[in-house]
Amino acid sequence: MLIDNHGREITYLRLAVTDRCNLRCFYCMPEEGIDWLSREALLSYEEMLRLCTLLVGMGIQKIRITGGEPFVRKEMMGFLRQLRGINGLKDISLTTNGVLTASHVPELKELGIKAVNLSLDTLDAARFFSITRRDEFAAVMHTLDKLLKHDIDVKINAVVMDGRNTQDILPLVALTKELPVSVRFIEEMPFNGDSHEYNGLAWDYVRILEHIKGAHPNLEKLKDAAGSTSYNYQIPGHRGDIGLIAAYSRTFCGSCNRIRLTPQGELKTCLYQSGGLDLRQLLRNGASDDELKQAIITNMNHRALDGHEAEQQGNSHTVHESMATIGG
Ligand code: GTP
Ligand code: 5AD
Ligand code: SF4
Repeated sequence: MLIDNHGREITYLRLAVTDRCNLRCFYCMPEEGIDWLSREALLSYEEMLRLCTLLVGMGIQKIRITGGEPFVRKEMMGFLRQLRGINGLKDISLTTNGVLTASHVPELKELGIKAVNLSLDTLDAARFFSITRRDEFAAVMHTLDKLLKHDIDVKINAVVMDGRNTQDILPLVALTKELPVSVRFIEEMPFNGDSHEYNGLAWDYVRILEHIKGAHPNLEKLKDAAGSTSYNYQIPGHRGDIGLIAAYSRTFCGSCNRIRLTPQGELKTCLYQSGGLDLRQLLRNGASDDELKQAIITNMNHRALDGHEAEQQGNSHTVHESMATIGG
Protein backbone atom coordinates (compact mmCIF):
# COMPACT_ATOMS: atom_id res chain seq x y z
CA MET A 1 0.00 0.00 0.00
CA LEU A 2 1.24 3.49 -0.85
CA ILE A 3 0.50 6.01 1.88
CA ASP A 4 1.69 9.60 1.84
CA ASN A 5 2.93 11.77 4.69
CA HIS A 6 -0.65 12.97 5.35
CA GLY A 7 -2.09 9.48 5.65
CA ARG A 8 -3.73 9.51 2.21
CA GLU A 9 -3.71 6.20 0.38
CA ILE A 10 -2.48 6.51 -3.21
CA THR A 11 -4.31 4.17 -5.56
CA TYR A 12 -4.68 6.16 -8.79
CA LEU A 13 -2.05 6.99 -11.40
CA ARG A 14 -2.60 9.50 -14.18
CA LEU A 15 -0.25 8.53 -16.97
CA ALA A 16 0.37 11.10 -19.72
CA VAL A 17 1.65 9.17 -22.73
CA THR A 18 2.47 12.25 -24.82
CA ASP A 19 2.46 16.04 -24.61
CA ARG A 20 1.42 16.34 -28.26
CA CYS A 21 -2.06 17.18 -29.35
CA ASN A 22 -4.06 17.63 -32.53
CA LEU A 23 -6.20 20.40 -30.99
CA ARG A 24 -5.11 23.75 -29.58
CA CYS A 25 -7.62 24.41 -26.84
CA PHE A 26 -7.43 28.02 -25.78
CA TYR A 27 -7.26 27.09 -22.07
CA CYS A 28 -4.45 24.57 -22.59
CA MET A 29 -1.93 25.82 -25.12
CA PRO A 30 -1.25 28.62 -27.61
CA GLU A 31 -2.07 28.38 -31.34
CA GLU A 32 1.55 27.56 -32.23
CA GLY A 33 1.57 24.67 -29.77
CA ILE A 34 4.16 24.22 -27.06
CA ASP A 35 7.81 23.26 -27.11
CA TRP A 36 7.12 19.55 -27.82
CA LEU A 37 9.32 16.96 -26.20
CA SER A 38 11.70 15.08 -28.48
CA ARG A 39 11.24 11.36 -29.00
CA GLU A 40 14.22 10.53 -26.76
CA ALA A 41 12.85 12.75 -24.02
CA LEU A 42 9.62 10.76 -23.88
CA LEU A 43 9.44 7.62 -21.82
CA SER A 44 9.27 4.62 -24.14
CA TYR A 45 6.28 2.27 -23.81
CA GLU A 46 8.66 -0.27 -22.34
CA GLU A 47 9.77 2.20 -19.67
CA MET A 48 6.17 3.15 -18.90
CA LEU A 49 5.19 -0.47 -18.61
CA ARG A 50 8.01 -1.18 -16.18
CA LEU A 51 7.02 1.77 -13.98
CA CYS A 52 3.32 0.89 -14.13
CA THR A 53 4.02 -2.72 -13.16
CA LEU A 54 6.12 -1.52 -10.24
CA LEU A 55 3.52 1.00 -9.11
CA VAL A 56 0.69 -1.54 -9.31
CA GLY A 57 2.81 -3.81 -7.13
CA MET A 58 3.05 -0.92 -4.66
CA GLY A 59 -0.71 -0.26 -4.48
CA ILE A 60 -1.89 1.56 -7.60
CA GLN A 61 -5.26 0.10 -8.65
CA LYS A 62 -6.38 2.47 -11.37
CA ILE A 63 -4.47 3.99 -14.27
CA ARG A 64 -5.93 6.79 -16.35
CA ILE A 65 -4.24 7.40 -19.69
CA THR A 66 -4.07 11.10 -20.54
CA GLY A 67 -1.88 13.43 -22.60
CA GLY A 68 -1.72 15.68 -24.61
CA GLU A 69 -3.96 13.52 -26.72
CA PRO A 70 -3.18 9.83 -26.11
CA PHE A 71 -4.18 8.70 -29.62
CA VAL A 72 -1.66 11.03 -31.23
CA ARG A 73 1.10 8.72 -30.02
CA LYS A 74 1.80 5.82 -32.40
CA GLU A 75 0.86 2.34 -31.26
CA MET A 76 -1.15 3.54 -28.30
CA MET A 77 -3.52 0.60 -28.60
CA GLY A 78 -0.60 -1.83 -28.52
CA PHE A 79 0.52 -0.19 -25.29
CA LEU A 80 -2.97 -0.49 -23.82
CA ARG A 81 -3.00 -4.19 -24.63
CA GLN A 82 0.26 -4.62 -22.72
CA LEU A 83 -0.99 -2.53 -19.83
CA ARG A 84 -4.05 -4.76 -19.65
CA GLY A 85 -1.71 -7.64 -18.89
CA ILE A 86 -0.45 -6.16 -15.60
CA ASN A 87 -1.49 -8.40 -12.75
CA GLY A 88 -3.49 -6.63 -10.07
CA LEU A 89 -4.43 -3.57 -12.13
CA LYS A 90 -8.17 -3.21 -11.60
CA ASP A 91 -9.10 -0.32 -13.82
CA ILE A 92 -7.76 1.36 -16.95
CA SER A 93 -9.50 4.46 -18.20
CA LEU A 94 -8.81 7.15 -20.75
CA THR A 95 -9.19 10.87 -21.20
CA THR A 96 -9.30 11.86 -24.88
CA ASN A 97 -10.37 14.74 -27.10
CA GLY A 98 -12.16 12.27 -29.36
CA VAL A 99 -10.66 13.39 -32.68
CA LEU A 100 -8.92 10.08 -33.50
CA THR A 101 -10.77 7.85 -31.06
CA ALA A 102 -13.84 6.55 -32.92
CA SER A 103 -12.13 3.79 -34.92
CA HIS A 104 -10.58 2.37 -31.72
CA VAL A 105 -13.80 2.14 -29.74
CA PRO A 106 -14.60 -1.54 -30.51
CA GLU A 107 -11.12 -2.57 -29.39
CA LEU A 108 -11.36 -0.41 -26.26
CA LYS A 109 -14.51 -2.32 -25.44
CA GLU A 110 -12.80 -5.67 -26.09
CA LEU A 111 -9.96 -4.65 -23.80
CA GLY A 112 -12.42 -4.06 -20.98
CA ILE A 113 -12.07 -0.27 -20.85
CA LYS A 114 -15.30 0.65 -19.15
CA ALA A 115 -15.09 4.42 -19.02
CA VAL A 116 -13.83 7.20 -21.25
CA ASN A 117 -13.68 10.90 -20.42
CA LEU A 118 -14.24 13.02 -23.49
CA SER A 119 -13.26 16.69 -23.68
CA LEU A 120 -16.09 18.68 -25.27
CA ASP A 121 -16.68 22.30 -24.29
CA THR A 122 -19.51 23.20 -26.64
CA LEU A 123 -22.22 21.72 -28.85
CA ASP A 124 -21.81 24.42 -31.45
CA ALA A 125 -19.42 23.69 -34.33
CA ALA A 126 -18.34 27.32 -34.76
CA ARG A 127 -17.60 27.75 -31.07
CA PHE A 128 -15.79 24.41 -31.07
CA PHE A 129 -13.51 25.87 -33.74
CA SER A 130 -12.97 29.09 -31.85
CA ILE A 131 -12.05 27.23 -28.64
CA THR A 132 -9.95 24.39 -30.08
CA ARG A 133 -8.72 26.25 -33.20
CA ARG A 134 -9.39 23.11 -35.24
CA ASP A 135 -12.39 22.02 -37.29
CA GLU A 136 -12.97 18.63 -35.66
CA PHE A 137 -16.40 18.96 -34.05
CA ALA A 138 -18.01 16.27 -36.23
CA ALA A 139 -15.24 13.76 -35.43
CA VAL A 140 -15.71 14.27 -31.69
CA MET A 141 -19.49 13.89 -31.91
CA HIS A 142 -18.98 10.71 -33.91
CA THR A 143 -16.74 9.37 -31.12
CA LEU A 144 -19.38 10.24 -28.52
CA ASP A 145 -21.99 8.34 -30.49
CA LYS A 146 -19.74 5.34 -30.97
CA LEU A 147 -18.76 5.14 -27.29
CA LEU A 148 -22.40 5.15 -26.25
CA LYS A 149 -23.30 2.52 -28.85
CA HIS A 150 -20.59 0.29 -27.37
CA ASP A 151 -21.95 0.82 -23.90
CA ILE A 152 -18.85 2.55 -22.57
CA ASP A 153 -19.47 5.01 -19.71
CA VAL A 154 -18.82 8.54 -20.92
CA LYS A 155 -17.98 11.61 -18.91
CA ILE A 156 -17.94 14.80 -20.94
CA ASN A 157 -15.42 17.37 -19.67
CA ALA A 158 -16.39 20.97 -20.40
CA VAL A 159 -14.09 23.75 -19.19
CA VAL A 160 -16.20 26.83 -18.48
CA MET A 161 -14.70 30.04 -19.85
CA ASP A 162 -16.14 33.47 -19.31
CA GLY A 163 -17.20 35.04 -22.61
CA ARG A 164 -16.43 31.88 -24.61
CA ASN A 165 -18.81 29.06 -23.84
CA THR A 166 -21.06 29.95 -20.91
CA GLN A 167 -23.97 29.88 -23.39
CA ASP A 168 -23.20 26.16 -23.77
CA ILE A 169 -23.81 25.28 -20.13
CA LEU A 170 -27.56 24.72 -20.50
CA PRO A 171 -27.39 22.91 -23.88
CA LEU A 172 -24.78 20.57 -22.38
CA VAL A 173 -27.06 20.03 -19.38
CA ALA A 174 -29.90 19.25 -21.82
CA LEU A 175 -27.78 16.49 -23.34
CA THR A 176 -28.30 14.49 -20.14
CA LYS A 177 -32.03 14.22 -20.85
CA GLU A 178 -31.70 11.54 -23.54
CA LEU A 179 -28.09 10.41 -23.20
CA PRO A 180 -26.70 8.38 -20.31
CA VAL A 181 -23.63 10.62 -19.94
CA SER A 182 -22.10 12.59 -17.09
CA VAL A 183 -21.52 16.16 -18.19
CA ARG A 184 -18.90 17.74 -15.96
CA PHE A 185 -18.25 21.45 -15.85
CA ILE A 186 -14.68 22.28 -14.93
CA GLU A 187 -13.33 25.51 -13.48
CA GLU A 188 -10.65 26.92 -15.74
CA MET A 189 -7.17 26.51 -14.28
CA PRO A 190 -4.11 28.61 -15.12
CA PHE A 191 -2.29 25.78 -16.94
CA ASN A 192 -2.48 27.16 -20.45
CA GLY A 193 1.13 27.19 -21.70
CA ASP A 194 0.93 31.00 -21.88
CA SER A 195 -1.93 30.82 -24.36
CA HIS A 196 -3.48 33.86 -22.69
CA GLU A 197 -3.26 35.81 -19.49
CA TYR A 198 -5.15 34.13 -16.69
CA ASN A 199 -7.05 36.82 -14.83
CA GLY A 200 -8.60 34.79 -12.07
CA LEU A 201 -11.70 32.68 -12.10
CA ALA A 202 -14.91 34.31 -13.31
CA TRP A 203 -17.04 31.14 -13.20
CA ASP A 204 -16.37 29.11 -10.10
CA TYR A 205 -18.40 25.98 -9.39
CA VAL A 206 -20.88 27.90 -7.22
CA ARG A 207 -21.71 30.28 -10.05
CA ILE A 208 -22.02 27.41 -12.54
CA LEU A 209 -24.34 25.58 -10.13
CA GLU A 210 -26.52 28.67 -9.58
CA HIS A 211 -26.77 29.14 -13.33
CA ILE A 212 -27.98 25.56 -13.81
CA LYS A 213 -30.37 25.82 -10.86
CA GLY A 214 -31.84 28.98 -12.40
CA ALA A 215 -33.12 26.88 -15.30
CA HIS A 216 -33.64 23.66 -13.32
CA PRO A 217 -34.80 24.46 -9.78
CA ASN A 218 -35.52 20.75 -9.28
CA LEU A 219 -31.86 19.79 -9.62
CA GLU A 220 -31.09 16.99 -7.19
CA LYS A 221 -27.82 16.35 -5.39
CA LEU A 222 -26.39 12.85 -5.89
CA LYS A 223 -24.08 11.07 -3.52
CA ASP A 224 -20.44 11.58 -4.55
CA ALA A 225 -18.19 8.53 -4.81
CA ALA A 226 -15.14 8.49 -2.53
CA GLY A 227 -12.21 10.29 -4.17
CA SER A 228 -14.50 11.91 -6.76
CA THR A 229 -13.26 15.21 -8.16
CA SER A 230 -16.82 16.29 -8.93
CA TYR A 231 -19.94 17.29 -7.01
CA ASN A 232 -22.70 15.42 -8.75
CA TYR A 233 -26.30 16.33 -9.55
CA GLN A 234 -29.17 15.10 -11.65
CA ILE A 235 -32.33 16.50 -13.13
CA PRO A 236 -35.11 14.09 -12.14
CA GLY A 237 -36.09 11.89 -15.07
CA HIS A 238 -32.91 12.56 -17.05
CA ARG A 239 -30.81 9.56 -18.08
CA GLY A 240 -27.48 11.26 -17.51
CA ASP A 241 -26.13 13.41 -14.71
CA ILE A 242 -24.16 16.57 -14.12
CA GLY A 243 -20.88 17.15 -12.29
CA LEU A 244 -19.06 20.23 -11.11
CA ILE A 245 -15.28 20.02 -10.83
CA ALA A 246 -13.84 22.69 -8.58
CA ALA A 247 -10.46 22.27 -10.23
CA TYR A 248 -9.33 25.78 -9.35
CA SER A 249 -11.10 26.25 -6.03
CA ARG A 250 -9.66 22.82 -5.37
CA THR A 251 -11.88 21.47 -2.70
CA PHE A 252 -10.74 17.86 -2.91
CA CYS A 253 -7.10 17.91 -1.78
CA GLY A 254 -7.95 16.32 1.58
CA SER A 255 -8.95 13.05 -0.08
CA CYS A 256 -6.53 13.17 -3.01
CA ASN A 257 -5.57 9.62 -3.93
CA ARG A 258 -3.68 10.34 -7.15
CA ILE A 259 -0.20 10.81 -8.54
CA ARG A 260 0.90 11.70 -12.05
CA LEU A 261 3.56 10.49 -14.42
CA THR A 262 4.43 13.10 -17.05
CA PRO A 263 5.42 12.15 -20.62
CA GLN A 264 9.09 12.63 -19.76
CA GLY A 265 8.88 10.44 -16.70
CA GLU A 266 8.54 12.87 -13.82
CA LEU A 267 6.47 11.56 -10.97
CA LYS A 268 4.32 14.40 -9.67
CA THR A 269 2.71 14.05 -6.30
CA CYS A 270 0.47 17.06 -6.96
CA LEU A 271 -0.89 18.84 -10.02
CA TYR A 272 0.65 22.05 -8.76
CA GLN A 273 4.10 20.66 -8.08
CA SER A 274 6.82 22.11 -10.30
CA GLY A 275 9.06 19.38 -11.71
CA GLY A 276 8.83 16.01 -10.00
CA LEU A 277 10.86 12.91 -9.23
CA ASP A 278 12.94 12.16 -12.34
CA LEU A 279 12.19 8.48 -12.85
CA ARG A 280 13.44 8.59 -16.42
CA GLN A 281 16.93 9.41 -15.22
CA LEU A 282 16.82 6.64 -12.64
CA LEU A 283 15.58 4.15 -15.24
CA ARG A 284 18.18 5.12 -17.81
CA ASN A 285 20.95 4.99 -15.21
CA GLY A 286 20.11 1.35 -14.65
CA ALA A 287 18.27 1.58 -11.30
CA SER A 288 16.96 -1.73 -9.96
CA ASP A 289 13.28 -2.21 -9.08
CA ASP A 290 14.15 -1.86 -5.41
CA GLU A 291 15.98 1.41 -6.01
CA LEU A 292 13.05 2.76 -7.98
CA LYS A 293 10.62 1.69 -5.26
CA GLN A 294 12.68 3.34 -2.57
CA ALA A 295 12.84 6.61 -4.50
CA ILE A 296 9.06 6.52 -4.98
CA ILE A 297 8.38 5.83 -1.31
CA THR A 298 10.67 8.69 -0.25
CA ASN A 299 8.85 10.93 -2.69
CA MET A 300 5.45 10.00 -1.23
CA ASN A 301 6.69 11.20 2.12
CA HIS A 302 6.98 14.74 0.78
CA ARG A 303 3.53 15.26 -0.67
CA ALA A 304 1.99 18.71 -0.33
CA LEU A 305 -1.19 18.73 1.75
CA ASP A 306 -2.77 21.35 -0.47
CA GLY A 307 -0.72 22.21 -3.54
CA HIS A 308 -3.07 24.92 -4.67
CA GLU A 309 -2.61 26.80 -1.43
CA ALA A 310 1.16 26.50 -1.85
CA GLU A 311 0.89 27.85 -5.38
CA GLN A 312 -1.13 30.83 -4.20
CA GLN A 313 1.55 31.59 -1.66
CA GLY A 314 4.06 31.75 -4.48
CA ASN A 315 5.84 28.47 -3.81
CA SER A 316 5.22 27.00 -7.21
CA HIS A 317 6.21 27.97 -10.74
CA THR A 318 4.02 25.62 -12.70
CA VAL A 319 1.21 27.98 -13.57
CA HIS A 320 2.50 28.81 -17.05
CA GLU A 321 2.85 25.17 -17.93
CA SER A 322 0.36 23.63 -20.37
CA MET A 323 -2.03 21.01 -19.06
CA ALA A 324 -0.68 18.82 -21.87
CA THR A 325 2.73 18.57 -20.19
CA ILE A 326 1.19 17.60 -16.86
CA GLY A 327 -1.50 15.21 -18.03
CA GLY A 328 -4.53 17.03 -16.65
P1 GTP B 1 -12.08 10.16 -12.86
O1 GTP B 1 -12.40 10.61 -11.48
O2 GTP B 1 -11.16 9.00 -12.91
O3 GTP B 1 -13.25 10.01 -13.78
O4 GTP B 1 -11.18 11.24 -13.52
P2 GTP B 1 -11.04 12.77 -13.42
O5 GTP B 1 -12.33 13.46 -13.42
O6 GTP B 1 -10.11 13.10 -12.34
O7 GTP B 1 -10.23 12.93 -14.76
P3 GTP B 1 -10.27 13.80 -16.05
O8 GTP B 1 -9.06 13.40 -16.82
O9 GTP B 1 -11.54 13.70 -16.76
O10 GTP B 1 -10.07 15.25 -15.50
C1 GTP B 1 -11.12 16.12 -15.28
C2 GTP B 1 -10.63 17.45 -14.78
O11 GTP B 1 -10.27 17.35 -13.41
C3 GTP B 1 -9.42 17.99 -15.53
O12 GTP B 1 -9.56 19.36 -15.78
C4 GTP B 1 -8.33 17.71 -14.57
O13 GTP B 1 -7.26 18.54 -14.78
C5 GTP B 1 -9.01 17.93 -13.25
N1 GTP B 1 -8.28 17.26 -12.21
C6 GTP B 1 -8.00 15.95 -12.15
N2 GTP B 1 -7.26 15.68 -11.06
C7 GTP B 1 -7.08 16.85 -10.42
C8 GTP B 1 -6.38 17.25 -9.23
O14 GTP B 1 -5.76 16.46 -8.54
N3 GTP B 1 -6.44 18.56 -8.92
C9 GTP B 1 -7.10 19.48 -9.67
N4 GTP B 1 -7.11 20.74 -9.27
N5 GTP B 1 -7.75 19.14 -10.78
C10 GTP B 1 -7.73 17.86 -11.15
N1 5AD C 1 -8.28 24.23 -16.88
C1 5AD C 1 -9.16 23.25 -16.62
N2 5AD C 1 -9.20 22.08 -17.29
C2 5AD C 1 -8.32 21.90 -18.26
N3 5AD C 1 -8.11 20.88 -19.11
C3 5AD C 1 -7.08 21.20 -19.91
N4 5AD C 1 -6.59 22.41 -19.61
C4 5AD C 1 -7.35 22.89 -18.59
C5 5AD C 1 -7.37 24.10 -17.85
N5 5AD C 1 -6.49 25.09 -18.09
C6 5AD C 1 -8.95 19.68 -19.10
C7 5AD C 1 -9.35 19.19 -20.47
C8 5AD C 1 -9.40 17.68 -20.31
C9 5AD C 1 -8.85 17.41 -18.93
C10 5AD C 1 -7.89 16.32 -18.81
O1 5AD C 1 -8.21 18.62 -18.55
O2 5AD C 1 -10.59 19.67 -20.83
O3 5AD C 1 -10.69 17.19 -20.40
FE1 SF4 D 1 -5.28 18.94 -26.54
FE2 SF4 D 1 -6.60 18.36 -24.30
FE3 SF4 D 1 -4.94 20.45 -24.38
FE4 SF4 D 1 -7.23 20.51 -25.77
S1 SF4 D 1 -7.03 20.39 -23.52
S2 SF4 D 1 -5.19 21.15 -26.52
S3 SF4 D 1 -7.46 18.43 -26.39
S4 SF4 D 1 -4.35 18.34 -24.57
